[in-house]
Amino acid sequence: MLTKKNQYGKVYGFSFMGQSFVIHDLEMLQEILISRFSSFPNHTRAKFDDKPFNKALTALRDGHWRTARNTLSAAFTGSKLKQMTPLINECCDQLVQHFDELRKSEAGIQCKDLYGAYSLDVAATSFFGMQIDSQKNPNDPFVKYAKESFGGGSIFNPKLLIGILVPGMAKLYNLLGIQITNVQATRFYTSVIDKAIELREKGSKRDDVLQLMMDAHKLDSDLTNEEDELVKGGMDEDDGSAAHSKQVLSSEVIMANAVFFLLAGYDTTNTALCMTSYLLAVNKEHQEKLIQEVDEFAPRREDVTYQTLSKMEYLDCVVKESLRFYPPSAGGDRCNDKGDIVVKGTLIPKGFSIWIPIYAIHHDPEIWEDPEEFRPERFSKENRANIRPVSWLPFGDGPRSCIGMRLALMEIKFALVRMLQEFKFETCPETEIPPVLNTRSAFLSPPNGVKLQIVQRKKTD
Ligand code: HEM
Repeated sequence: MLTKKNQYGKVYGFSFMGQSFVIHDLEMLQEILISRFSSFPNHTRAKFDDKPFNKALTALRDGHWRTARNTLSAAFTGSKLKQMTPLINECCDQLVQHFDELRKSEAGIQCKDLYGAYSLDVAATSFFGMQIDSQKNPNDPFVKYAKESFGGGSIFNPKLLIGILVPGMAKLYNLLGIQITNVQATRFYTSVIDKAIELREKGSKRDDVLQLMMDAHKLDSDLTNEEDELVKGGMDEDDGSAAHSKQVLSSEVIMANAVFFLLAGYDTTNTALCMTSYLLAVNKEHQEKLIQEVDEFAPRREDVTYQTLSKMEYLDCVVKESLRFYPPSAGGDRCNDKGDIVVKGTLIPKGFSIWIPIYAIHHDPEIWEDPEEFRPERFSKENRANIRPVSWLPFGDGPRSCIGMRLALMEIKFALVRMLQEFKFETCPETEIPPVLNTRSAFLSPPNGVKLQIVQRKKTD
């Protein structure tokens, strides 16, 4: 992507699944993502109508998206996240224990398996109150299907390629109900969430994301039949009706987002943890500095709290720099479905998509000094003012940025601190330096994972 920018400039067009602009220009992105958000509120419309994902937050448009986003955002406030921390710390207990067991028998540990299981455990417990032992049982269907689901978005998925390349095929898929995403995985997660909903309906209420969505759904039962149709049936077009101001979520939307949340956090958080561990292993001086901070602020398990982590400045710098270096989502998108719009002198015709080359922006020497160097200090309090707006985009930016950002950051920080209390990351002969990255989808996830040696720390009292 960076080579393409050097070849074609900061804005260039391409035609693949419709007409698109790649926009590398930060001033234009600032307008598109933030100051003129109301002109570009939606993602590119998916050609495929895969259920239940056609009702997930990323797929919803305009007023339907706003209603769902307002309701769901309440699950990710600071106080809700604080309530989740004991659950996350318990998942960390298993993570640390599992790394400890494996390191005694294996020189090079596949971090992707353990961090993947950890992020699923966190999602299952904090969203749906389910204790999934996925770290101890890597063949648990919960883990297996999450891994498999990520094959579906690859551009080398033959069903997807045929659907894109053969005219009319996407429509035929939709008509015949052929799904691009992994049908068995979707069926499995749907049944798991169905059971959780059933339990809640029998009275075992919890203070989590699923409960929040269910409570919002309850408002639904007060609607008249006519309104009910409007909310449940008309989710694809925004008619701007007053019904949308009610915070109602149809059961399809609950199911779609429950499954989507599980999967949205799984691969991304896993990649972030793998890549941060790798970067610490190859940048020993930064690892040592972080360990010093861990020893100072949170030397024991019970010191790892929401409040303590928010005081750990170097930890914050390391995580942010790792997400700059290896953004788990290498690109983002918006579409212009409103009309011909001029942004900073460039006409974006109606119907065009906008592709945001996150990875290329993060590695552009005109934006970041020495971008191929891992320098957590870029994000220190003193240097923060030098960071240009919309140049750090691992979670996107503006009103439609990642809803799970704060949870993801907390999850990553908890795991890193708990790991560094006990261990150090080191490279081993099987470590790929640098790791091969996935170039087949928008997710950077290293296809061979990240193998590292986990060394017990000798602690000084
Ligand atoms: C390191 C971890 C994560 C990364 C790097 C990441 C990245 C992203 C990015 C780049 C977007 C698109 C933002 C935009 O278009 O401006 C996004 C959207 C989204 N993410 Fe995440 N994400 C992460 C974790 C999570 C988690 C844990 C959840 C679970 C709740 C989640 C749920 C979502 C949802 C629902 C959206 C769509 C938001 C909307 O359309 O309103 N993400 N994420």
